[in-house]
Amino acid sequence: METMKAIRMHAFGGPEVLAYEDAPRPVPAADEVLIRVLAAGVNPVDWKIREGYMRDKITLPLVPGWDVAGVIEEKGPAVVGLEPGDGVYALPSILRNGAYAEYIVVKASEVALKPESLDYDHAAAVPLAALTAWQSLFDLARLRAGRKILIHAAAGGVGHFAVQFAAWVGAHVIGTASARHHDFLRSIGAHELIDYTTTPFEEAVRDADVVLDALGGEVWQRSWKVLKRGGIMVSTLRGPEAGGPDALNKLCAHVFVQPDAAQLGEIAVLIDSGQVRPVVERIFPLSEAAAAHRLLQSGHAEGKVILHVADA
Ligand SMILES: NC(=O)c1ccc[n+]([C@@H]2O[C@H](COP(=O)([O-])OP(=O)(O)OC[C@H]3O[C@@H](n4cnc5c(N)ncnc54)[C@H](OP(=O)(O)O)[C@@H]3O)[C@@H](O)[C@H]2O)c1
Repeated sequence: METMKAIRMHAFGGPEVLAYEDAPRPVPAADEVLIRVLAAGVNPVDWKIREGYMRDKITLPLVPGWDVAGVIEEKGPAVVGLEPGDGVYALPSILRNGAYAEYIVVKASEVALKPESLDYDHAAAVPLAALTAWQSLFDLARLRAGRKILIHAAAGGVGHFAVQFAAWVGAHVIGTASARHHDFLRSIGAHELIDYTTTPFEEAVRDADVVLDALGGEVWQRSWKVLKRGGIMVSTLRGPEAGGPDALNKLCAHVFVQPDAAQLGEIAVLIDSGQVRPVVERIFPLSEAAAAHRLLQSGHAEGKVILHVADA
């Protein structure tokens, strides 16, 4: 059996359960590709799974990491349209071994050519967060030009893509973030910003058509007030089940991001045309995945945290 370097967890727990070790190199099935991983994105779901989220669906030992950018090394016999040597990016299924490793197998249907204008570290910043923003704004909220959207946690992984997609489509974009992110958020298209540490957002926003909530809990509850009648709140987290009187005549949707190679292709076009850019807070070597988790788990990153696995 061939081996590879990987980060694996043999138990649920804190960052210390992430072990840098040798692991079996995966073999692609007929409809899969083997990707030589050059970079992996780090997302909150990684540290949540590390702590035990979805533990009944997870088999240990587990390689975490569900954002990958790399080069196709091998393909299964049923794969068409992708070839060894192609530079690609993907959001692989969350129920399988992930990208904190030198190699990963991914269903070919989940893989797209990476944006040509990005290096691999920045390409790995895109799939999970950008697909979440895309599916929330366009599949669920049907955001259009002229609509008003409030984006919570606008400077985070999901939020900074949502700001750019909403501005690109011609919406009026309002974001919540602490003041240190405001210049950055203006530079990527936000029209109004609310410093949530000094101003309750419900005092500053009225009649939003759409709210994108990436915080849940009491932020989800308070956000009903700022939505107009017939407006929609899309949440990446579930809020309390009952919205109370403020939720009457308003819609709520919960996004659970899905792999989608066609949407990754559309996003690559936007990135290569200069309309959207991923922003990276910090790049760690693969062996320092635990430090990357600690940084992301602090909850205040600007854009994405990345693991650099190998040079192109
Ligand atoms: N359901 C799904 O399919 C799905 C998909 C993706 C993500 N998610 C979930 O969505 C959440 C966000 O993900 P992410 O990748 O965007 O996280 P992230 O990158 O870790 O978010 C960090 C950002 O949150 C901001 N923030 C923290 N508290 C805030 C508050 N009270 N008001 C406004 N901004 C605040 C921080 O800004 P400051 O520095 O200003 O505090 C920071 O920029 C996570 O819980 C994740 O698990 C779910």
